[in-house]
Amino acid sequence: MSEKSILITGGAGFIGSHVIKLFVEKYPNYKIYNLDALTYAGNLENLKSIEHKSNYHFIKGDINDESFIDSIFQKHKFDAVIHLAAESHVDRSITDPLAFVKTNVIGTMNLLNAFKTLWKDNFKDKLFYHISTDEVYGTLGKTGLFKEDTPYDPNSPYSASKASSDHFVRAYGETYGLPYIITNCSNNYGPNQFPEKLIPLFINNIIQNKALPVYGDGNYTRDWLYVIDHAIAIDLVFHEGLNHETYNIGGFNEWKNIELVELLCNLMDEKLNRTKGSSKRLITFVKDRPGHDLRYAIDASKIEKNLSWRPSVTFEEGLSSTIDWYLSNEEWLKNVTSGNYQNYYQKQYS
Ligand code: NAD
Ligand code: DAU
Repeated sequence: MSEKSILITGGAGFIGSHVIKLFVEKYPNYKIYNLDALTYAGNLENLKSIEHKSNYHFIKGDINDESFIDSIFQKHKFDAVIHLAAESHVDRSITDPLAFVKTNVIGTMNLLNAFKTLWKDNFKDKLFYHISTDEVYGTLGKTGLFKEDTPYDPNSPYSASKASSDHFVRAYGETYGLPYIITNCSNNYGPNQFPEKLIPLFINNIIQNKALPVYGDGNYTRDWLYVIDHAIAIDLVFHEGLNHETYNIGGFNEWKNIELVELLCNLMDEKLNRTKGSSKRLITFVKDRPGHDLRYAIDASKIEKNLSWRPSVTFEEGLSSTIDWYLSNEEWLKNVTSGNYQNYYQKQYS
């Protein structure tokens, strides 16, 4: 592999940390710069295994800070950007939508502008890779799948902000010839996910024998993908994806929330040596999420056919190793659930 200087944003977060670990280990010739503001969701503990590698560099900073972003592009001359930094939780976007516009839209604009200014005279071999979500497509009914040409129809402030950033990336491609790729992925799960999202939140609550707050009737469907399979897909798209293309990434793995939660409860009972059925008793149906999308499901046939990508683990394997990770990293879980997390939890679930 030739030498490259790559900026990965949001590398201290859930998906970003897996992408950083994969790139730093696999590509010793690349200089990997991790830019992260270390919000509540960013945690350098996630990167312990690679932090001393000579091809890894951490930059603490906010993508909303335009002059700072310009200065690091001028200094490090990044050949490529893999942009993951974002406000990522739907429930938080409902209580504070503006924070999502700032980071997800304005922050992305700052990166696009800095990248354009640096390379506008010659974009050859450069790439702006934007990591997006299937939520931009809105909701499916009981049938059908999201394809790359499904019209955008976002329903939450989070998905509206991600849709907006996707539009700007594409517009910079059309207007300024900026080389870009966008991928839209389904729900990820796995080690290091902050316990505000369904799977790690419920694992943490089961450990503590706390109520499991299922929104509405629990008949909402998501398509779950193991985070390391997402990181592998990102590596593949980064190296083999085509300029100005979009790829959908998904797990071929739809679950109704209530069925997933029941599976999780059964696995946790086994692993914690609890009486069968004891975790299920924690399930509590609570007020629904406003604007709750009924169903997400990805048609991943394009990336499967063009780049030969398929998830490498089954859901049962992925979920089992995810639970094992949380059970053997209690200190990590304790650290991220102290302080502000308690206030968030109170407000969200009281
Ligand atoms: P996360 O919330 O775990 O991590 C986000 C990271 O971005 C954190 O490290 C945080 O500190 C950093 N960050 C936030 N605001 C910043 C700012 N202003 N400047 C610099 N850094 C900032 O998110 P995640 O779940 O890892 O998601 C990463 C990306 O993947 C997001 O763009 C998200 O939209 C997308 N995505 C997530 C999923 C999923 O299921 N989690 C699925 C599809 C796409
Ligand atoms: O589809 C990709 C998206 O998946 C990503 O873009 C987002 O960043 C990510 O957060 C995720 O969004 P969801 O809203 O689908 O994920 P979440 O884990 O918050 O919720 C999954 C489902 O579980 C959803 O139907 C809401 C429900 N839920 C969630 C929580 C937190 C509950 O029933 N109870 C809860 O307490």
